[in-house]
Amino acid sequence: MNESGFIFDLDGVIVDTAKYHYLAWKKLADQLGFEFTEEQNERFKGVSRRRCLEILLELGEITVSQQQFDAWLIEKNEDYLTYIEKMDESEILPDVPKILHFLKEKNIPMALGSASKNARPILEKVKLLPYFDAIVDGKQVTKAKPDPEVFLIASQMLKVAPGNCVVFEDAVAGIEAANRAGMTSIGIGEQDVLSQAKYNFKDFTEIDLEFIEQLIRTK
Ligand code: BG6
Ligand code: MG
Repeated sequence: MNESGFIFDLDGVIVDTAKYHYLAWKKLADQLGFEFTEEQNERFKGVSRRRCLEILLELGEITVSQQQFDAWLIEKNEDYLTYIEKMDESEILPDVPKILHFLKEKNIPMALGSASKNARPILEKVKLLPYFDAIVDGKQVTKAKPDPEVFLIASQMLKVAPGNCVVFEDAVAGIEAANRAGMTSIGIGEQDVLSQAKYNFKDFTEIDLEFIEQLIRTK
């Protein structure tokens, strides 16, 4: 077993793709004739594509056939893909490479723990794939966050006990999943939204390397 491991969510933690998910869902809501606000979008963070569409249709009070539902899922993803196609390293969130590099130098095992089925191509586009020893994404997970499954699979793949794993998350559902997995949760974003996290930071620029050292030492 390794002593400590670090798990990163992707969307909204490593890259600012949350805005692209929002734009793609908003386009569908516009098409269906109802408003979809950024505040409502908080509920979509960390949540599977399918569940997001269910929530969107609840918000718009729309019921549809299974066939239409599946067609909209495809349509949303195609819109989303047009945004991520153009991504490059410039879309990595500030100071993320600094932290990844620091952990890599210390040979600390790292995993991605994301609900997204597009996680691998995004990591490739922004050239961060080589940092990760394990990738757990929406293709492997059967139970979406807030279920702890995604992070428990990551901990097994890293060979690090859940209690020795640290999770960076920007979603309420993700913080709950990390807490339920018995891991140290770090909220990246607004503290009042992510109040259940063990530690809170607005973004990675607020995290110093001494704090990371301390996390490694105490795991
Ligand atoms: C999560 C996002 O990382 O991935 C959610 O926070 C998104 O908003 C989910 O719905 C699924 O992503 P994808 O790329 O498989 O549609
Ligand atoms: Mg996220």
